[in-house]
Amino acid sequence: MKRILVTGSNGQIGAELVPYLRERYGAENVLATARRRVPGPVSEGGPFEILEVRDGRAFSGLMGSFGVDAVIHLAGVLSARAEADPQGSWDVNAGGCFAALECARERGAAFFFPSSIAAFGPSTPPDGTPQVTIQRPTTIYGVAKVTGELLCDYYHLKYGLDTRGLRFPGLISYEAPPGGGTTDYAVHIYYEAVSQGRYTSYIAPGTFMDMMYMPDALEAVVRLMEAEPSKLVHRNAYNVSAMSFEPGQVAASIRKRIPSFEIDYAVDPVRQAIAASWPRSLDCSAARAEWGFAPKYDLDAMTTDMLEKIQKRGPTAGSGLHF
Ligand code: SER
Repeated sequence: MKRILVTGSNGQIGAELVPYLRERYGAENVLATARRRVPGPVSEGGPFEILEVRDGRAFSGLMGSFGVDAVIHLAGVLSARAEADPQGSWDVNAGGCFAALECARERGAAFFFPSSIAAFGPSTPPDGTPQVTIQRPTTIYGVAKVTGELLCDYYHLKYGLDTRGLRFPGLISYEAPPGGGTTDYAVHIYYEAVSQGRYTSYIAPGTFMDMMYMPDALEAVVRLMEAEPSKLVHRNAYNVSAMSFEPGQVAASIRKRIPSFEIDYAVDPVRQAIAASWPRSLDCSAARAEWGFAPKYDLDAMTTDMLEKIQKRGPTAGSGLHF
């Protein structure tokens, strides 16, 4: 990767990946794009353009004028929000992926697609979920993720495009809040631990999902994109996860630093049903073997870092987090 275009740059991943890529590849070589300009490092720390991902003509124009050789396609609507608008979210998530792949094909650019644990469903083996297994998701978000994986495979087979992808678990971060996801409780809980000393979880106790701290996710993207192509047997997309936990375990981890922290539950049936349809723990051996996936943060290390960072930024930084 030398000249990189990122879509969805204001999102939870983009807000951290763009500065990370600029640091590594040079600020002038990373073109951040998003539907709107938000003041801050993404729009001010290097090149930035407004881009609606389904606008192929504009997308293609930017690819040409910037001389893009790699597209990191992050724009998308998360799982719970997508269930509230299946048609609109399909258009963005599947239509956007197709439009972005077409632009990458025109220029022979490498392509990164963020798939998800949502690409699995209730018929998938939930424990030690294999790299290659049943994928019959029951959410529109998951259906679009499987579609994206298959499209990326197709563009690689048919056109030799260098497509690569990760099946991200829930990502936890403090820079930009996620919006409308199912795993987001694991972000909200840290903000509310700092601001309220308590948290009401919309996910039921005992519901395990895969998770990863953002610094490990950023490193995984770059490691995968820089990996020797001949080693990549499973391009689209690799299972990656650093931990699997349920809400009570995050609460216990927080209590080690904030002993008075309390959790209670008001389960949201929509997000609980989505969570229940996803795996409890992924088998990430293909990612480790083929390109050296090696996450560093476990639950306690992440909790320490999250609480420190949120305390430093002030308790109101996470306001507006709730979907
Ligand atoms: N974190 C995402 C969500 O909850 C899953 O990819 O929607």
